[in-house]
Amino acid sequence: MSAIIFEQVSVRRAGRPVLAVPALRLDEQRVGLIGDNGSGKSTLLRLMNGLLLPTHGQVTVAGLETVRHRKQLPAAVGFVFQNPDHQLIFPTVGEEIAFGLTERGLPTAQARRQVSALLERHGCAELADRNVNELSGGQKQFVCILAMLVTEPSILLMDEPLSSLDLPTRLRLSRRVMALTQQVVMASHDFELLREFDRVLWLDDGRIRLDGRPADVLPAYREHAALAAAGEVAAS
Ligand SMILES: Nc1ncnc2c1ncn2[C@@H]1O[C@H](COP(=O)(O)OP(=O)(O)OP(=O)(O)O)[C@@H](O)[C@H]1O
Ligand SMILES: [Mg+2]
Repeated sequence: MSAIIFEQVSVRRAGRPVLAVPALRLDEQRVGLIGDNGSGKSTLLRLMNGLLLPTHGQVTVAGLETVRHRKQLPAAVGFVFQNPDHQLIFPTVGEEIAFGLTERGLPTAQARRQVSALLERHGCAELADRNVNELSGGQKQFVCILAMLVTEPSILLMDEPLSSLDLPTRLRLSRRVMALTQQVVMASHDFELLREFDRVLWLDDGRIRLDGRPADVLPAYREHAALAAAGEVAAS
């Protein structure tokens, strides 16, 4: 039941059309989203967890139609924001990560123990009592990812989650993402990771321009980007 289905979906924002997806069904375990800035990657992801509702059409995620079941979606669908400052709401790292567990009924003391063990496993136990506002950008991104993973939702939506991470953390989390049993939909410019995915969608100006295996879609997008850059250099 973990499919993501778009039917005749279009989105207008501030009076402008920003996305049009007539038909899309995502069943694969690892789905990547690529495309230029402003092409619609975040919009597509936000439609999948009800943060954004379609202007027309409908989106169904894990059997939940996003308009009718908006309140139930967060329990089934985890989300990592592109900007960690839009996600982090608690004063300390420990509280931030523990929230997802206490919200699901785990007693506070048990949740805190689980969070300490998780941070320990990732070699950063010292982060537990740190103020989230005093973390670096990459550390914030890392905390957001752990906060999502700890609740084990059945679908994970990640909006450029690895962009600020240092190489060791990126490689460790990439491996972790590939080992997850859940479905993952991730916007990313990390082609090394996306090469391992089952399917990649290339978004262009609010539409799906190419949809297929990474071995076909990634080189096509790279070539397009190189041609666009060469054109700009020639014109200047
Ligand atoms: N809050 C908003 N109000 C109006 N238009 C918006 C808003 N957020 C995004 N848009 C527009 O929607 C379109 C798609 O934006 P979106 O954020 O989905 O792109 P993206 O592919 O995620 O880009 P990036 O790579 O920069 O993260 C863009 O034209 C953008 O200007
Ligand atoms: Mg985005």
